[in-house]
Amino acid sequence: MKRTTIATLRALKGAEKFSCVTAYDATFGHWVSESDVQVILVGDSLGMVLQGRDSTVAVTLDEMAYHTQCVARGNHSCLLMSDVPFMQAATVERALAAAEVLMQAGAEMVKIEGDERLVPVINALNAAGVPVCVHLGLTPQFVHRFGGYKVQGRDQATRTATLSAARALTEAGADLVLLECVPSDLAKQVTEAIDVPVIGIGAGADTDGQILVLHDMLGFNPHRLARFVKVYPGAPLAALNAYADDVARGNFPAPEHQFLD
Ligand code: KIV
Ligand code: NA
Repeated sequence: MKRTTIATLRALKGAEKFSCVTAYDATFGHWVSESDVQVILVGDSLGMVLQGRDSTVAVTLDEMAYHTQCVARGNHSCLLMSDVPFMQAATVERALAAAEVLMQAGAEMVKIEGDERLVPVINALNAAGVPVCVHLGLTPQFVHRFGGYKVQGRDQATRTATLSAARALTEAGADLVLLECVPSDLAKQVTEAIDVPVIGIGAGADTDGQILVLHDMLGFNPHRLARFVKVYPGAPLAALNAYADDVARGNFPAPEHQFLD
């Protein structure tokens, strides 16, 4: 049985594409870990998917810890990553405290939304032994600063800032970078510029891995789907394997799932 670690993902960079999905409970933690998908994210998207909110801003650290514990009980093979929710990485001290809670709940890595200003936070987590994925591009916790959910990096200033942040944050010790809703050519540039694996969602076909929200890819989302989602209907295990196979073969994302300019 596979046991995916950060070392597994590092070895795959440049060789094989890997796939990731979210999960929020033990049952789906089980099915994802039975499948060929290699990484589970306990995403703060649970604010929308489970709680019916219209953003992730209200999700608390306690809620993230609870769902991380649930998923960890069902997971037996995937790398398990949990989101640091809104405001919890606003200072180094808060980030360390939040990471302690999530790692002790069963996470093996934490994911933090932000930009280059996270350098001191990443340094401190790295020194404390906490693996970190930095989430750049469209960072949903910043929705009220962006003024909506919009593709990021269509202008030169944002492109330059994103590339610079990816470099600085990996230099500071980030183990993964996740890019959300950026033009495909920017994601390609970032992926080629840094040594750590890059995971994309709405970031084109050239990142090292892909991620989707579980309920979106299984066809359970009753609302309008984002352009980057592909639905894999059917029972969970077969659907997850079809998705993983599509990613591995380079069939997903297709041009219709991408922001090409
Ligand atoms: O919370 C989440 O599900 C996420 C992914 C969509 C990247 O952050
Ligand atoms: Na998230």
